[in-house]
Amino acid sequence: MNQDEAALTGEALTAEELRERIAAELLSARDRTTLLTTAVDEGDLIRQHSPLMSPLVWDLAHIANQEELWLLREVGGRTPIHPEIDPLYDAFEHPRAERPTLPILPPKEARAYGHEVRGRVLDLLEKVTFGGTRLTENGFSFGMIAQHETQHDETMLATHQLRRGGPALTAPPAPAAPADAASLPAEVFVPGGPFTMGTSTEPWALDNERPAHMVDVPPFYLDTTPVTNAAYLEFIADGGYDDPRWWTPAGWEHRQRAGLSAPLFWRWAGEWVRESFGVSNPVVRSEPVLHVSWYEADAYARWAGRRLPTEAEWEKSARHDPGSGRSRRFPWGDDDPTPELANLGQRHLTPAAAGAYPAGAAPSGARQLIGDVWEWTSSDFLPYPGFTAWPYKEYSEVFFGPEYKVLRGGAFGVSPVACRATFRNWDYPIRRQIFSGFRTARSAQARLAPAEAS
Ligand SMILES: [Fe+2]
Repeated sequence: MNQDEAALTGEALTAEELRERIAAELLSARDRTTLLTTAVDEGDLIRQHSPLMSPLVWDLAHIANQEELWLLREVGGRTPIHPEIDPLYDAFEHPRAERPTLPILPPKEARAYGHEVRGRVLDLLEKVTFGGTRLTENGFSFGMIAQHETQHDETMLATHQLRRGGPALTAPPAPAAPADAASLPAEVFVPGGPFTMGTSTEPWALDNERPAHMVDVPPFYLDTTPVTNAAYLEFIADGGYDDPRWWTPAGWEHRQRAGLSAPLFWRWAGEWVRESFGVSNPVVRSEPVLHVSWYEADAYARWAGRRLPTEAEWEKSARHDPGSGRSRRFPWGDDDPTPELANLGQRHLTPAAAGAYPAGAAPSGARQLIGDVWEWTSSDFLPYPGFTAWPYKEYSEVFFGPEYKVLRGGAFGVSPVACRATFRNWDYPIRRQIFSGFRTARSAQARLAPAEAS
């Protein structure tokens, strides 16, 4: 265990406390799944709303199938309930585009399957001992399944956003900008030096977040908040989409072919309007820009005379505590997220205004690193030194390589159980149906770095 990290885990939970925590996380995930799959009618559950997405009813039974595979069969040693349907719900056997053509379970059967699996899992949870195998240690496999379900909830939320028709989801508005938002510095300084990246101690961390290792990061400046719609509108107004100087060759080629001229779900109607879950409103200038591809984020950063942060820079700004020298679980400390600290868990259907959640700020002063929008980094999705695939290669290892870019920090549609400052997400640089935004960075000259000089 890395010494910096030793303080992170704190007191270990008793088996009873762990059982309660797991039951609460599984219940919370299922509440969200139920909301997302009862807010629309049967037709909308079965329909494919975009070739990028599965029908909602596929996600519903896939969640149950993974829960059965990992908890009932692997951990519990139970015999399969419906082995014949396993191949239909194997994400690697069938790409999303072809899932509507499969003989998948209709809504009623998919719900009944999920209900049956969950009932048996709760029985298993009463009896399981947490230890002896890596899958049960600290309840890992249960935590993995709770995270998996909420990750599909996020995917289903993206499907809702792509669905045409009137609003089906409602939520209270996200927090407005706090009083000090207008006086925040545009950027914060992060001193150079080594920090602990990744984790070897976070009990439910996934394989790609492991192991903890030291990374030396030169000093840099980072935007205090994610890039706002107001700032992005300036890029558009300045002809940013029409100037190949700001785009990588691959980005420019994509911009031309796809005809990009604004973020996804924006429409020009005498002013820029954004469609959000079936409701159209003028673009809110104070909100972080949402639904941009890596190519757009990278082009904006070049136009602004800056660059995207590296993944290591992002994580250092979100975790490193210069006071103690150790890495935190979150920007604000080691405590789990609360509604006062970050916009997570689909409590709202938009990101909060830039500068919101002052209580969730990092030691550097950067805000909203967790929640609101996923933030593109400049980095390819690669394994950390000492990485080992676990518990299956298809979680991360098969995706490592230069074709995927890393996103960090989670978005308003990410559940807290699947969000921490070590969590890594990845996607193709053209993708923007995800809840993606970004912030920009610049390298600091050593002589401009006061904390380094002292
Ligand atoms: Fe999945």
